[in-house]
Amino acid sequence: MLEFLPVRNVEASEAHLQRRRVKESVDRLNIGFRVERHPELWSALAETGEHFDDAVCMAREIDAVWDKLELKGISREKMMLCALLHDVGKAGPEKRSTELHRAIKQLFAPPRKPFNPFRQQNGRTVPKTIRDFMEETEMRGAFEVEAVLEKELKIKSDAKPIIDFWRDHADWTYDLLSHHREGEVDDDVVTIASTHHVLEGRNPAHVPLDDIHPGSKVLELMDKYQTLAMIDKYQAFRGRGGLDHEKAIEALRRIIEANKTLDTVAKQEYGRIIDVLASSEEELTETLVRPEITEPTVLQRAPRRSMAA
Ligand SMILES: [Fe+2]
Ligand SMILES: [Fe+2]
Repeated sequence: MLEFLPVRNVEASEAHLQRRRVKESVDRLNIGFRVERHPELWSALAETGEHFDDAVCMAREIDAVWDKLELKGISREKMMLCALLHDVGKAGPEKRSTELHRAIKQLFAPPRKPFNPFRQQNGRTVPKTIRDFMEETEMRGAFEVEAVLEKELKIKSDAKPIIDFWRDHADWTYDLLSHHREGEVDDDVVTIASTHHVLEGRNPAHVPLDDIHPGSKVLELMDKYQTLAMIDKYQAFRGRGGLDHEKAIEALRRIIEANKTLDTVAKQEYGRIIDVLASSEEELTETLVRPEITEPTVLQRAPRRSMAA
């Protein structure tokens, strides 16, 4: 019980509260996922803080538009689980000291003022480094953050672009999930969840993206990771970016149009998913309410069929 925790150990008591909150949120989703059976993932989800809240919103967004998505070969519950776990890598690499966890938490926290990870230099777009980010956002304890990144991850803060560092979380999601693949967290969940930044060139599960002949595993999974990628961006634009529904949809369309690696078939599939989101403003807006400030009764519903169904 909380009252028996040592008062001075604030971090431990926060971690305890956060784990409890994660369990409550997961249980409320009612997808048959027993997070307590996956202790490492439970701790990592708790460590991701507000990113976990975004993941819960995404799971609810999938739930809200499920019938329109018409995804074949996957259950609603499993797809919601992929959303729930997609950013678990924001806790950091699997093996992380408390110091590294603190540093990563700071680097993944939304900056206090708007920050553009790129700058214009001699007519070229240049990525800003981790050090640029820390200086520009006046991050506290930047010296310690740099030291721990170098010691444990061999990362030089004045050389590594902050955008690359942020995107590393897709690889960390893959490592964490693949090492704790068990029960509901099966191969498909690992692949779909960790492929959500495929548009940014991150493919830690090594999905052979060109192997899309009929019947291939990639083709089978494609609309799932594409759905997750679009919902992830929609949630970021609306939840964190403060865009309204229409602007968020426009931004999604622009991202797909501008992507030079996608062929016509892929662009059409992304377009279909965006159309589903575009036509679901009311349902999606309801899900944006953060779980902790939502009346519990609103979220309660009849038990679902099991994940295996
Ligand atoms: Fe992500
Ligand atoms: Fe995300």
